[in-house]
Amino acid sequence: MKTKNSSLTAKEQATFAKKVLNDPVLFAKKILSVELWEREVEILQSIKTHRRTAVKACHGVGKTFTIAIATLWWLARYPDGIVLTTSPTERQVRTQLWSEIHRMLERSKFPFPKVKMTELKLRDDNNFAIGFSTNQAENFQGYHGKNVLIIADEAPGIDSGVWDAVAGTMAGGNVHIVMLAIRLSLRGLSSTPSPMNAVFGTASRSLHSIRRT
Ligand SMILES: Nc1ncnc2c1ncn2[C@@H]1O[C@H](COP(=O)(O)OP(=O)(O)OP(=O)(O)O)[C@@H](O)[C@H]1O
Ligand SMILES: [Mg+2]
Repeated sequence: MKTKNSSLTAKEQATFAKKVLNDPVLFAKKILSVELWEREVEILQSIKTHRRTAVKACHGVGKTFTIAIATLWWLARYPDGIVLTTSPTERQVRTQLWSEIHRMLERSKFPFPKVKMTELKLRDDNNFAIGFSTNQAENFQGYHGKNVLIIADEAPGIDSGVWDAVAGTMAGGNVHIVMLAIRLSLRGLSSTPSPMNAVFGTASRSLHSIRRT
């Protein structure tokens, strides 16, 4: 990855690039030029480290902003990295996460290739991010053994059939999942068996909490 720091030798640049690619927080700062809020740092570090991250929070605290960063970081970090992003409706996919991804790309110091409405390829056909609504569960199939990040925005609205497909994908490879929910919408969860329950069932009542497993 190129950096704008031309005072470094080639070896130092390579070391710096490796460090940035290994750290989503540094990636956000150095490549996307954003200053992160404390909770956003916590979410990104969890996505890097843990297979499952669940975030419940109030409106407007930066959930979608943070997963837009996570999407671009995962693509850059893993040459065969795949990011599957999903929300209950097509409209949410387009107008929330993917419009934030488009804004991030405009400010990126690294020249990402041209982005489509809800699809971005980085190095080749095996290194891509795609957004789809959750009535397209078949999109979760066929990624065994790869580096996959699954992002479920507005997760409580997602059908249980979709969670079965997600569980299948998680059976092999390096698959991380991040589930986001509005704090107030978690009450009805207990009647719907899903990975969301397992993670959020014991969540605290604090404004923002992350459960990691
Ligand atoms: N670190 C940051 N720097 C600058 N702007 C930010 C930052 N974090 C979030 N924002 C901006 O704050 C606003 C709210 O963030 P975001 O939409 O990610 O919140 P949210 O938690 O997903 O909200 P909702 O629950 O309504 O979906 C957005 O306009 C986003 O671009
Ligand atoms: Mg949001």
